[in-house]
Amino acid sequence: MEQIPGNKGFLRNSWYVAAFDNEVGSEPLARMFLNEPVVLYRDEAGAAVALEDRCCHRHLPLSQGNVIGDVLQCGYHGLEFDRTGACVRVPGQSQIPPEAKIRSYPVTEKWNWIWIWMGDPARADESLIPDWHWVEDEGWRTVKGNGGKPLPVDCNYQLVSDNLLDISHLSYVHTSSIGNGAIMDFPIKTERLNREIRMSRIVMDRPPAPFWGWAGKFKGNVDRWLVTSCEMPAFVVNDAVSVELGTDMRAGHRDHGVEMRVLNAPTPETDTTCHYFYAHARNFGLDDPDVQNAYLTQFTEVFLEDKFVLEGQQRMMNLKPGATEIDINSDAPSIAARRLLGELIDAEQAELMSGAAE
Ligand code: FES
Ligand SMILES: [Fe+2]
Repeated sequence: MEQIPGNKGFLRNSWYVAAFDNEVGSEPLARMFLNEPVVLYRDEAGAAVALEDRCCHRHLPLSQGNVIGDVLQCGYHGLEFDRTGACVRVPGQSQIPPEAKIRSYPVTEKWNWIWIWMGDPARADESLIPDWHWVEDEGWRTVKGNGGKPLPVDCNYQLVSDNLLDISHLSYVHTSSIGNGAIMDFPIKTERLNREIRMSRIVMDRPPAPFWGWAGKFKGNVDRWLVTSCEMPAFVVNDAVSVELGTDMRAGHRDHGVEMRVLNAPTPETDTTCHYFYAHARNFGLDDPDVQNAYLTQFTEVFLEDKFVLEGQQRMMNLKPGATEIDINSDAPSIAARRLLGELIDAEQAELMSGAAE
């Protein structure tokens, strides 16, 4: 049997979501990404800054210090660092040792999030941030997930993307909200695009899932469109639509129903933990307080249901690393995503090795 592509480490030349825009201000925020300690803050102009969270003098986390104007001051002996990571002041001496420098990371803001580039700063390319334009579209409304904070999940981030690419779990994990057994009657299609894996499942003429029945006020059965796209390394959009029967949804007609996009960006914290950032964009009930409230409350429950499953998996994987697992048909998209990501990581590592050998 073919081996499931496993966790090969992290893709470094990539953006990751570091924080919701509302989380970062003039107080330092400590957060670990890809096993690296990072401190985030905003300078006087409000621009986000990301630095290594370790003083180059005696290792104190700089997040234990203070932001003073545009610089971050270490909380131990007062060394000050600018947004490039250069030490710009050593109290009590005029000479600054030339090697007094910490790492700084490229950051940019988009779609209500602060994104951090964890690889070679010269390669930071904003076109690699996914196009999640619904966040800025007037016909849509977006609710930040988990009250505008990442949901901490004690699992490798790829378990989150596996979960999102495997819609069959809706029928077992989310039966009271967005799932029902009808999904399992319909096959999935898996496509590989450039840096993306897409899973499609079209459900025709079945009862709506509980949330969708309420949101769309449907009288009877619906047609349902469930498409999940995963851009590398793990930017996952769930495109979820329920429409009235006979409205030709297969041809792309979606105007007799309700749509949402779930925007998911699990960022690795360590090998076995992640910061799960998510948001919900919808095109219905934009000013309806009941709908808004459902997104603020019920959907948090849905994510907690996933967290319970994901952390259970990781606990067992930690107990017996490399334990065998079997595959079923609905794993095809997640296996394809792991394979594509594995290829990108292999290519990145091969390039690093050849650079080191030169
Ligand atoms: S440890 Fe940071 S200034 Fe000494
Ligand atoms: Fe789920």
